Amino acid sequence: MSFDRSIKIAPSILSADFANFGQEIQAIEAQGADWVHVDVMDGHFVPNLTFGPPAVKAFRPHVKTVMDVHLMITPVDPYIQAYADAGADILTAHVEAGPHSHRTLQAIRAAGMKAGIALNPGTPAEAVEHLLDLADLVCVMTVNPGFGGQKFIDMTSKVQRLRQMIGDRAVHIEIDGGVDPKTAPLVAAAGADVLVAGSAVFKGGSVSNPSVYGDNIRAVRSAAEAAQS
Ligand code: DX5
Ligand code: ZN
Repeated sequence: MSFDRSIKIAPSILSADFANFGQEIQAIEAQGADWVHVDVMDGHFVPNLTFGPPAVKAFRPHVKTVMDVHLMITPVDPYIQAYADAGADILTAHVEAGPHSHRTLQAIRAAGMKAGIALNPGTPAEAVEHLLDLADLVCVMTVNPGFGGQKFIDMTSKVQRLRQMIGDRAVHIEIDGGVDPKTAPLVAAAGADVLVAGSAVFKGGSVSNPSVYGDNIRAVRSAAEAAQS
C-alpha cells in the first residue's frame, strides 16, 4: 500500500446484502471502490453486533483492493492477532475503547497491519496528538458509531485541526458516517482523503444492477475531488 492523499472511496459493507457479501464486494470493487470498509461491532462499545474474525476471514479472498477493518469493540488488544490472521490490511481501534491506545497501535503494527485510530464525535482532535507517530490513519466519526444511515455531524474544524497536527506524516484522514455528495466536499476541503460511505454507495443498486454503485461512487468522488484542498 503506497501513501498518497488522493480521494479514496471506501464503501462500508454494513449497507450491503448480508446474504451475499462475496458478490457485493466484487461488485463495488468492479464499480470503482478504492478500499472495502468492514465495520466490526460488539454490542458493548456500540449498541449493535456485526462481524467476528471468521466472517472477516471469509471476506478476504473477495477483496482485491484494501480491507479496512474498523473495530467498534472493547477491549481491542485480545483480538488484534485474530484480525491479522483474518487478513485485515488496516485495523482501526477507537481511542475511547481503552486507556492504552499507544500500546494498541504498536501491537497492530507489530502484527503486520497498518494502524488506525478513530475518534467519536465528542472526542477532541487532541486525544490523538501523541499517537500520530504510531498511526497510519485517523478516522474521524461524523456519526455516533453503531449504525449506517445516520445524519452527518459536522466535524470540519476537527478535521482541519488534525490535518495541521499531522503535518508531513504519512497519515490518512478518514471520514466515517453520513458521507454523501453533499457532505463529502466539506471534509475533503478540510483535509480528509478517505471517505467511508455505506448508504450513499449501496442505495438503489444491487449485484444484479451494479452500475448504480458505480454512479454513486463517482458522485461522492467527484464532489470530494472538486473541493479537495
Ligand atoms: C457507523 C459505521 C459506518 C457506517 C457508515 O458506525 O462505522 O462505517 O456504516 O454508513 P453511512 O455511510 O450509511 O453513514
Ligand atoms: Zn466504519
